[in-house]
Amino acid sequence: MERRKFIRTCCYTTIGLPMLVSVLQSCGLIYYATSTRNANSLIVAKSEFWKVKKNKKVNRSFVLVRIEDDQFPICIYKFEEDKYIASLLKCTHRECELNVGGGIYSCPCHGSEFTITGKVLNGPADRDLKTYKIETDNEYIYLSLS
Ligand code: FES
Repeated sequence: MERRKFIRTCCYTTIGLPMLVSVLQSCGLIYYATSTRNANSLIVAKSEFWKVKKNKKVNRSFVLVRIEDDQFPICIYKFEEDKYIASLLKCTHRECELNVGGGIYSCPCHGSEFTITGKVLNGPADRDLKTYKIETDNEYIYLSLS
């Protein structure tokens, strides 16, 4: 790649990605759920997976959560009624934060893609994402952090 083109691409990526995340958050597509932490688990209310829009209940297919001692968010996907899967959005290639969209996780750094279950779809990453064991009750989702 030509040097000037490389620098331009890097500038667009550096400026464009935070703007894209900001736009997606303002559109409600990316939503950070409220969570609480106890000894070894992160607790998220199931109600975080829906919102009321124009007097209608609208479901979210995923929410993001953060844990204070990790720079990367966790994405919790709801793939069936009361079935969830959670993956750390940390690319296994060189540790860039993954984007969520279109039913996959994609890496803005070198293009790796992962399924919502954390499996590698396309490299250069060759290891699956870290996922978390999940239990639920009537109201809450419990992610095991141990
Ligand atoms: S860091 Fe994600 S593909 Fe390289």
